[in-house]
Amino acid sequence: MEPLVALLHMVIAIMTFSKANTTVCTLRGEPVHPELWKDGDIIVGGVFSFHSSWEIRQLTYSIMPPPLKCISLNFRDFQYAQSMLFAIEEINNSSTLLPGVSLGYKIYDTCGSVAVGVRAAMALANGYEKMSVEGPCTKHAEVQAIIGDTTSSACMAISKGIGPFKLPLV
Ligand SMILES: *[C@@H]1O[C@H](CO)[C@@H](O)[C@H](O)[C@H]1NC(C)=O
Ligand SMILES: *[C@@H]1O[C@H](CO)[C@@H](O)[C@H](O)[C@H]1NC(C)=O
Ligand SMILES: *[C@@H]1O[C@H](CO)[C@@H](O)[C@H](O)[C@H]1NC(C)=O
Repeated sequence: MEPLVALLHMVIAIMTFSKANTTVCTLRGEPVHPELWKDGDIIVGGVFSFHSSWEIRQLTYSIMPPPLKCISLNFRDFQYAQSMLFAIEEINNSSTLLPGVSLGYKIYDTCGSVAVGVRAAMALANGYEKMSVEGPCTKHAEVQAIIGDTTSSACMAISKGIGPFKLPLV
């Protein structure tokens, strides 16, 4: 009996999907905003742990969990982000390196959480800021490359997530 029920669920799911409006790209879930950003012709993404921890809260599992409340400032990662901004400005200001191209950036704070880091990387790949966009969800990546995170476990999770988009991770 159970396989039959599972099959029925699958058929219903497929029917629902095929009926969905495929011409509008709608954001599922909450938008994710960067901590630091500047527009440019080429945008470089950054994922750093400006905080190294978050407040533990009792979850009720009856409502959506609220966003993490970050604690413990991590100056080392803030310094890394500053170095990234300095390099971007230096290349942007230079008349010999990439002349006529302005560089921008979008930098996210992960709070030291791998899950938040993956979410930030997905936001950098997809642009999780707009609630809905005209047309299908098949536009170009928001950023040309992602710098960070500073821990290898977060990097491994992020690289698995953005690998299919062929986005380089430094
Ligand atoms: C599908 O998208 C079009 C274009 O945005 C819109 O006009 C229409 O109302 C949508 N249909 C449904 C069923 O959501
Ligand atoms: C890059 O240079 C352009 C002008 O050439 C400027 O408008 C923009 O703010 C600069 N971006 C950064 C990140 O410094
Ligand atoms: C880039 O140019 C701006 C404006 O001239 C300046 O304020 C900034 O310090 C420069 N940045 C670097 C890294 O040279």
